[in-house]
Amino acid sequence: MKLSRNLYLFLFLFSLVITVSVSQTTITKATNVTKPGCKRQCGNVTIPYPFGIGPGCFTSDWFEITCNTTFNPHKPFIGGLEILDISDSTFRIRNKVASKCYDQHGNITENNPVFTNLGWTSPFTFSQRNRFTLIGCDDFALFVGPEQVNSTSGCIALCSRPGEVVNGSCSGVGCCQTSIPKGMKYYYTSVSSMGANHTSIWSFDPCTYSFMGEKERFTFNGVSDFLDPNFRNRTRASVPILVDWVIGNLSCSEATSAGVLGCQANTQCIDSNTGVQGYRCSCNQGYQGQPYLDPGCQDINECEDPNSNPCEGICTNTPGGYTCSCPDGYVGDGLKNGRACVAENSHFPVIKFSLGMGSGFLAVLLGITWLYFGVKKRKLIKLREKLFQQNGGLLLKQRIMSTDRSMDSTKVFTAEELEKATNNYAEDRILGRGGYGVVYKGILNDQRVVAIKKSRVMDETQIEQFINEVVILTQVNHRNVVKLLGCCLESEVPLLVYEYVSNGTLLDHIHGKGVMTWLSWENRLRVATESAGALSYLHSATSTPVIHRDIKSANILLDDNYTAKIADFGASRLVPIDQTQVTTLVQGTLGYLDPEYFHTSQLNEKSDVYSFGVLLAELLTGRKPLCMDRTDEERSLATYFITSLKENRLFQILEPRVVKEGTLEQLQEIAQLVKRCLELTSDERPTMKEVVIQLEGLRKFTQHPWASQHGDEENENLLNTEPEPSDLYAVSMDLSSGFSKDGSLIYPANVLR
Ligand SMILES: *[C@@H]1O[C@H](CO)[C@@H](O)[C@H](O)[C@H]1NC(C)=O
Ligand SMILES: *[C@@H]1O[C@H](CO)[C@@H](O)[C@H](O)[C@H]1NC(C)=O
Ligand SMILES: *[C@@H]1O[C@H](CO)[C@@H](O)[C@H](O)[C@H]1NC(C)=O
Ligand SMILES: *[C@@H]1O[C@H](CO)[C@@H](O)[C@H](O)[C@H]1NC(C)=O
Ligand SMILES: *[C@@H]1O[C@H](CO)[C@@H](O)[C@H](O)[C@H]1NC(C)=O
Ligand SMILES: *[C@@H]1O[C@H](CO)[C@@H](O)[C@H](O)[C@H]1NC(C)=O
Ligand SMILES: *[C@@H]1O[C@H](CO)[C@@H](O)[C@H](O)[C@H]1NC(C)=O
Ligand SMILES: *[C@@H]1O[C@H](CO)[C@@H](O)[C@H](O)[C@H]1NC(C)=O
Ligand SMILES: *[C@@H]1O[C@H](CO)[C@@H](O)[C@H](O)[C@H]1NC(C)=O
Repeated sequence: MKLSRNLYLFLFLFSLVITVSVSQTTITKATNVTKPGCKRQCGNVTIPYPFGIGPGCFTSDWFEITCNTTFNPHKPFIGGLEILDISDSTFRIRNKVASKCYDQHGNITENNPVFTNLGWTSPFTFSQRNRFTLIGCDDFALFVGPEQVNSTSGCIALCSRPGEVVNGSCSGVGCCQTSIPKGMKYYYTSVSSMGANHTSIWSFDPCTYSFMGEKERFTFNGVSDFLDPNFRNRTRASVPILVDWVIGNLSCSEATSAGVLGCQANTQCIDSNTGVQGYRCSCNQGYQGQPYLDPGCQDINECEDPNSNPCEGICTNTPGGYTCSCPDGYVGDGLKNGRACVAENSHFPVIKFSLGMGSGFLAVLLGITWLYFGVKKRKLIKLREKLFQQNGGLLLKQRIMSTDRSMDSTKVFTAEELEKATNNYAEDRILGRGGYGVVYKGILNDQRVVAIKKSRVMDETQIEQFINEVVILTQVNHRNVVKLLGCCLESEVPLLVYEYVSNGTLLDHIHGKGVMTWLSWENRLRVATESAGALSYLHSATSTPVIHRDIKSANILLDDNYTAKIADFGASRLVPIDQTQVTTLVQGTLGYLDPEYFHTSQLNEKSDVYSFGVLLAELLTGRKPLCMDRTDEERSLATYFITSLKENRLFQILEPRVVKEGTLEQLQEIAQLVKRCLELTSDERPTMKEVVIQLEGLRKFTQHPWASQHGDEENENLLNTEPEPSDLYAVSMDLSSGFSKDGSLIYPANVLR
């Protein structure tokens, strides 16, 4: 008895030794990586099908790799871009770094913009694991992608002393990073100085760089990066760009029904989630190999490698898996972490015992499961309560109760209510995305349609500010301000519920395709007056003056009657602002941004006046505030408007319809108003109140007896037949932290105060 047990043990150990040594020799089993007869490697890079070198070796022209043999080792290229490696859903390409360098007089000594293109209709997109990075101390970079994904993002990096720069931190001081939109296939980037051409910081920062690259591969080394003459080459070598690929231009189901699905045996088809149409094939669990080529994926023999199976006893390979068991005479589950294998003791009623154990165990398991779910549910309730408190629910209740206007206008929604309203935050309910979060369309129980803004995570110190904001906003009651209906504090991040404004943003109407018949001179003046009125009210009529900070055409929403409603105000307060912390981020929009506020960091309500001036200029000229396609002179609308006015060319830049419908005196007066709003020193700008008075004066002239009510109605009837975009926040709330085509961007809060 004893002998035989030892014998088993010996055999068992022996077999283990054997499997280990066998697995080491056969672990690299040859599989078909490429089509038969095709080159498997170019230099160090393995080229798996659907990629391939030479005719007949790739699935479609996009996947053709050229191997340049003039290099040693040889280098593979795809569409002129050097490939570094290829995996089953991504490949990496060699980076390019845009740069600009200055001498101590501020003359530019080096300027390299970068254009990278994966192919307009290609199945490749830049992975969202890339970041767009700018390093420099006086610089901004624009990052222009295809119009298709509405993506001009920007980054500003500032600093005035080497000491401010923190190694490893890209939050706007010396280094700025933004994420990139989904579906991007090409981009252009160049860098420019914010002001002084590096003259004041030249000693420690002569150059500025911008590039896209895999986030994990880049670490910012502070000032030593600025001074490193090899920075471009080093970054090119160490920070690749990650590219997502899919094949075909059909989804799995479309390809299947068209009979062109390229996935072989033991694979599954995965629909593209990269922003382009297409699919990938992937080996099933427990299989490996080449999913695109016959004979498809092969079973992995887990038993060959002791690290890929947990068996202690006998491992039996099965298709797609394995089973563990014990040798004869032993009992147990054969698992290393389980009951393993123990010698059978014939005197001990093992089977009965284990049966008993089994049912006992089952009962215990049931009990535990029951307890688990009970506890989990209670935990969820607890968590919600905790979040409510953490998000300042109590504080809010207190505040709301202590103000005169009580709960009638503001509601604290429950998490469930909003989940239901948005169909559990379904993708198809998304109205827009922005730096602060995502806006969903929601339908409440009482069938009211609302817009629900889901913030990003914020830290606890911001809560009180957030609460203040909510309290202020609920006290604001103005026809031309988007109404905040309530909020929800039970969720991890605060949710804000706004009235739903159906007719899109002013930006869409000014710059959108198609002729906007309603945008007459009179209606432009009306929208301007309404917006000005709301701003004036925010600046003076509320108990705490509210400075909007981000007035732009994308933040003016229009309702069914084309009445203007200012949106998103105070939203910037949702972003941490803490002047003692340089790492915090605040939003502003390049092109609308008050230069004085930018340079002195002194925020006052005149900054809104400046932005409003830009908005007026936009309404009058139909031009974008910042247009990188134009010449230097015309790039910034504010500057261009002022120079044109000075040089008596005003009527050339105004929109023809405005010139036709407005009188000479009106146009001259409103141009002077724009000029005053755009004064560089805030003291010289008018207050919003004055702006309103002047605009209202101008409107009186416009309301000719023949152009009043009746005309309006006609216009509106005309318009009702026009399809209008209903995604109200589509432009103002852009992609995660990059910003929209109107150039919103991120910059550090320390420049603000
Ligand atoms: C490679 O492909 C050929 C033909 O498609 C097939 O006969 C062969 O078995 C494959 N080899 C491996 C190792 O899968
Ligand atoms: C690439 O190949 C060269 C020689 O062909 C070799 O020296 C080098 O180590 C290889 N690099 C990698 C990353 O495999
Ligand atoms: C290989 O690279 C060299 C150097 O960049 C270039 O001159 C040559 O045209 C390339 N050859 C091919 C076949 O692309
Ligand atoms: C560089 O700056 C110096 C001093 O401001 C100036 O005299 C010189 O003309 C500039 N050179 C160029 C090429 O612009
Ligand atoms: C881009 O903007 C246009 C209108 O401004 C909108 O219709 C379109 O859906 C946007 N595209 C994306 C991908 O956001
Ligand atoms: C910076 O350089 C540009 C181009 O050389 C020049 O037009 C601009 O006036 C310079 N700005 C300052 C503040 O020196
Ligand atoms: C930042 O990193 C550089 C290079 O890695 C190093 O020389 C420098 O001492 C670091 N500075 C700080 C403040 O850690
Ligand atoms: C960077 O690389 C280029 C080309 O490979 C080379 O000509 C240049 O000298 C390098 N620059 C530095 C500073 O090493
Ligand atoms: C999909 O690709 C095929 C061939 O690659 C092409 O003929 C077809 O027009 C494409 N369809 C779309 C919708 O792009």
